[in-house]
Amino acid sequence: MEYDNNENTWRRSSSPKIQGSSCSSLPHRPTTTAVIVLGLAVLSCLMGYCVLSETLPYESKTLRLVVIFFRHGARTPVSSYKSDPYKNYQWPNGLGSLTNTGKLQMYELGSKYRSYYANFIPEEYHDKDVYIRSSDKSRCMMSAYTFLAGLYPPTERQMWHPELAWQPIPVHSLPREIDNIVAGTKSCKLWKRMYDEILAEKDSDPKFVELFDYLSKHTNQSLRSVVDVDYLYSTLQTEQEAGLKLPEWTRNVFPNKMREPFMLSLALMSYNESMHRFKAGPLLGDLRQNLQEAVNHINMDRALYIYSGHDVNIVAFMRALGFTQLMEPEYGASVVVELHEEVEQDTFYIKLFYRNNTKVEVPMELKIPRCEEPCTYKRFEHLIETLIPTDWEAECQN
Ligand SMILES: *[C@@H]1O[C@H](CO)[C@@H](O)[C@H](O)[C@H]1NC(C)=O
Ligand SMILES: *[C@@H]1O[C@H](CO)[C@@H](O)[C@H](O)[C@H]1NC(C)=O
Ligand SMILES: *[C@@H]1O[C@H](CO)[C@@H](O)[C@H](O)[C@H]1NC(C)=O
Repeated sequence: MEYDNNENTWRRSSSPKIQGSSCSSLPHRPTTTAVIVLGLAVLSCLMGYCVLSETLPYESKTLRLVVIFFRHGARTPVSSYKSDPYKNYQWPNGLGSLTNTGKLQMYELGSKYRSYYANFIPEEYHDKDVYIRSSDKSRCMMSAYTFLAGLYPPTERQMWHPELAWQPIPVHSLPREIDNIVAGTKSCKLWKRMYDEILAEKDSDPKFVELFDYLSKHTNQSLRSVVDVDYLYSTLQTEQEAGLKLPEWTRNVFPNKMREPFMLSLALMSYNESMHRFKAGPLLGDLRQNLQEAVNHINMDRALYIYSGHDVNIVAFMRALGFTQLMEPEYGASVVVELHEEVEQDTFYIKLFYRNNTKVEVPMELKIPRCEEPCTYKRFEHLIETLIPTDWEAECQN
């Protein structure tokens, strides 16, 4: 109760802590203190501490907003197949659930982002700084919670239990029937029509006939679609990860020959521009609003948005941004959009990063197709604008 009347006691200080080894810790938002901090930083540089900066976590005085979209951590299989020797295997917590390995992956990913953005994301969790949305699937919710445990371990003041270095942080989600933002599971008639059409076309590609025949024979079930290959691929993958010995016949096709149809199946959900509007449009709309608010200095405390979803959602997002290559996002793969402000030139620009998995130390910067570098916010906004439906329902012909 003591904090209720005076919000300021809650808020993070607007200037960062001064660390001896830090050379250019600039505050998130300019204040008078900034000048002092900068002064001290310059001073410490002069005193020879500057060399240390190479090993310091990421810092950029131009950074204004970070948006992270990740795939959940390692999970148990979602389905099995007819001849599966592990059909009756007792998976801990059942099918499609986040494993302990998965929890650890996401926790570590959260810790990595904590140190990577140490100079940008306040150490102390505050509700105003961050907003987290998740797919309603348990494994995604749990991934979000474990990620946050790594990102925001409680500071001393925030410890509420002597033995539990964890604090509750809200994760928002919509039921799958109405989620067209994170999981993209809300039904859309026109999209479904397009998807069925493009799927039928790809499934009848002669190049897959031999593989379909082989898999049908060995799984003892009719397997004639890249979607079937997709399910089988991830089942074999999770069984293998669990240390189970796969049947001999899989050697000829898994993972290599199955990989392309698997990736194609992920991509088909958001195959072309019309489909981007339905599968990525609402997420891009969310992104546009977040960026706009930051650019217009609304909601100034908000530094971070986090989305916890599935492989297909990462693929849909990347395809909508213009990446056409087929991809296989691993567990905990993450895409980051950064908004930067070049104060002197009075311009904002966008940077895009990808971490293939939770082991990657430094994210890889990606060049955004159709946005020449530096990719200005204006140009980026224009790019995504064309993919955001004004009335999603109506466009879906629901
Ligand atoms: C394949 O399915 C048939 C019919 O369900 C069954 O009789 C047969 O035992 C199965 N073979 C294998 C290898 O699972
Ligand atoms: C996308 O694919 C669907 C299904 O084949 C098709 O109906 C639609 O016209 C395509 N859109 C574009 C922009 O190519
Ligand atoms: C990481 O992902 C990128 C983009 O999908 C890909 O080009 C690269 O080969 C991947 N690296 C590894 C080690 O998988």
